[in-house]
Amino acid sequence: MARRWAPDSWRSFTALQQPDWPDAGALEMALKQVAGFPPLVFAGEARSLQGSLAKVAAGNAFLLQAGDCAESFEEFSAVNIREKLRVILQMAVVLTYSMGVPVVKIGRMAGQFAKPRSSATEKIGDLELPSFRGHIVNDLLPTAAARIPNPERLVQAYHQSASTLNLLRAFTKGGFADLSRVTAWTQEFVASSPEGRRYEELSMEIERALQFMHACGVDTDSFPMLHEVDVYTSHEALILGYEEALTRQDSLTGQWYDCSAHMLWIGERTRQLDGAHVEFLRGVGNPLGCKVGPTTSPEWVLELCQVLNPARIPGRLTLISRMGADKVEDSLRPLLRAVKDADQPVVWACDPMHANTFTAPNGRKTRHFEDVVAEIAGFVRANKAEGTWPGGIHIELTGEDVTECTGGTDDLTQDDLDDRYETICDPRLNGRQSLDLAFRVAELIRAGA
Ligand code: PEP
Ligand code: CO
Repeated sequence: MARRWAPDSWRSFTALQQPDWPDAGALEMALKQVAGFPPLVFAGEARSLQGSLAKVAAGNAFLLQAGDCAESFEEFSAVNIREKLRVILQMAVVLTYSMGVPVVKIGRMAGQFAKPRSSATEKIGDLELPSFRGHIVNDLLPTAAARIPNPERLVQAYHQSASTLNLLRAFTKGGFADLSRVTAWTQEFVASSPEGRRYEELSMEIERALQFMHACGVDTDSFPMLHEVDVYTSHEALILGYEEALTRQDSLTGQWYDCSAHMLWIGERTRQLDGAHVEFLRGVGNPLGCKVGPTTSPEWVLELCQVLNPARIPGRLTLISRMGADKVEDSLRPLLRAVKDADQPVVWACDPMHANTFTAPNGRKTRHFEDVVAEIAGFVRANKAEGTWPGGIHIELTGEDVTECTGGTDDLTQDDLDDRYETICDPRLNGRQSLDLAFRVAELIRAGA
């Protein structure tokens, strides 16, 4: 018999990584407010995404999940959102054109505010402060007052998500994402680079193909897929009170959906099978992700699949491998094999960022571009060896010309990190590195690494 589930059943399980809200009354008020707000996404959209992810699970499409490590309340502007979308669209074009399969696009956007932390406190100079947990909880400023969890931030996170989603919908459906504008997506600082020139050639080929079709009498205007794209939203479902407040029953099917985003994932630190995060997410109808780190056993993965996707619905579950460039091949193969032998129709995606982070001598957290590429290469080889489809990548990026990850064609060094280090959490690939990565990924997958 299936155990009973309700949006609040997670409350009788252990919930790790929850803020220590100092004022229970203020928290309850904020959550009540969010629970009264309209849903941010609709159940039908989550189901469409699940359908697209089913194609990825079957090996007929590729997943690109990308965006900030943590969205910021301060860096919140139309330009910021547009530039991130631009890079995602460019990467998707490169991947689609080079691999010949559709690319399912999901942003770490419009709700990616909460951060799990390895330690409850952090040392800044001589100060020992509560850790920064993302703008939905507290502030990055290094003072004790700024680090106190403030429930009003839950409300602000909702409003910022709504505005971001509104702009994303306008950009993706209102002409900006029209394939005939594919050349115009390049930013100035990218255009002059080797990857920028490579992109220009590719986009000119696409434009020529469109003109050719038009000249042959194909009415390209009548195909919405050439003029609009679907970009879905996702975030780590970490702060369970917030997620519960946005969980609504679909009037069409009676199924519960977490309407804070199309897809939700469980992080590496909160994926305990008997924990509150797994309990909460097993009951919502959205497509789900779960990070899978190097300590994972095949038995654990099979149990997770059983709990989160007992009906074996293709596209319901994406396993996001984050092993580290040096470990991925050996650690991942037994998992791929076990899941395949159990006939679990999952999407396998590669997060090549989170297990390749290190601190440079100047104190900056960084990642090297070649480690990112190396982890994806190992991921592709592992899948090839096991006869499974390397279904996608999950990455942290920004459209801006930041200096947070080293390497890439302009060969950023650790000395360059201070120039434009703007992330409020993990280091992100900049616009050029992201585009470069798309070309490298397409090559790796075509070659089987
Ligand atoms: C993240 O995706 O930002 C993250 C914290 O990842 P992980 O849970 O894999 O460490
Ligand atoms: Co991160």
